[in-house]
Amino acid sequence: MHPVVSNTKLSPNVVRLVVEARRVAEIRRPGQFVIVRMAPGAERIPLTIADADREAGTIALVIQAVGRSTTELCALRPGDSVRDIAGPLGRPTELIASGRAVCVGGGVGTAVVHPIAQALHRAGVEVTSIIGGRSREWVIYERELAEHGEVIVCTDDGSYGRPGFVTEALRDVLAAGTIDAVYAVGPVPMMQAVVAMTRPLGVHTIVSLNPIMVDGTGMCGGCRVTVGGEPRYACVDGPEFDGHLVDFDELRDRLTTYRDFERAALERLDHDCKLGS
Ligand code: NAD
Ligand code: FES
Repeated sequence: MHPVVSNTKLSPNVVRLVVEARRVAEIRRPGQFVIVRMAPGAERIPLTIADADREAGTIALVIQAVGRSTTELCALRPGDSVRDIAGPLGRPTELIASGRAVCVGGGVGTAVVHPIAQALHRAGVEVTSIIGGRSREWVIYERELAEHGEVIVCTDDGSYGRPGFVTEALRDVLAAGTIDAVYAVGPVPMMQAVVAMTRPLGVHTIVSLNPIMVDGTGMCGGCRVTVGGEPRYACVDGPEFDGHLVDFDELRDRLTTYRDFERAALERLDHDCKLGS
């Protein structure tokens, strides 16, 4: 069992859950994730480790309530526990050792770029983070990223920071000087737009993919993606890949496969809650 230490609301449907997981906190590296299960037989939820505190033996998970299981996870409070946390899983981020990097975070994906920006900064790389949300209340991790370099905040509606998508700010940063690598995490259309911008410039671009995962060990095939024309499994070969080689159209198709089931499960949860209240 993994006791919940804190639950902090970051945006209307995103929380930061700090849970005890001493072994994971000790050995995790940037880019790695865990698979969480609330109870025996419950859905397995892959979540990137946004931060870890080795001394306290805790990890921070940033969760967007999109389906029944993530909504239940977001409702956990100190005193509650998570049944299983398996990990750390996946390959650590391929970090450049010097030069200048841009970390692009869209929405909840901003929490995933945080450990990458942190590790790059610690390695001596100059980091610029470009983060975006639909409006001010959806912007997360601005303060944490500011500890690792310049942060450019964008909002779709212009309510905070620079108006427009993160890719518009990226275009200006790429035009202003030499960038050695771009790390992008967020919605698929955002990552696709980032690689369309960096490909003609030949800027190495790493993206973190979020296909459906089941076992997290490379056995079930659920997280299959195509990279450079070859099948790859995000749980063991990724989740980060060379963005210029990813088949984003296929990823987008596969991500919509279970949308109707998710919607039905959320409606059942809503119904159960109303019966219980
Ligand atoms: P969102 O839809 O609110 O978008 C966040 C920001 O991304 C926008 O403010 C904008 O700046 C940018 N963006 C969105 N669409 C764009 C486009 N077409 N072109 C350029 N920029 C665009 O994001 P959300 O609701 O927080 O969702 C985040 C997404 O990130 C989810 O789809 C989630 O599955 C994904 N995610 C990915 C990972 C990963 O490891 N890859 C981890 C967590 C979340
Ligand atoms: Fe099953 Fe990756 S989650 S192969």
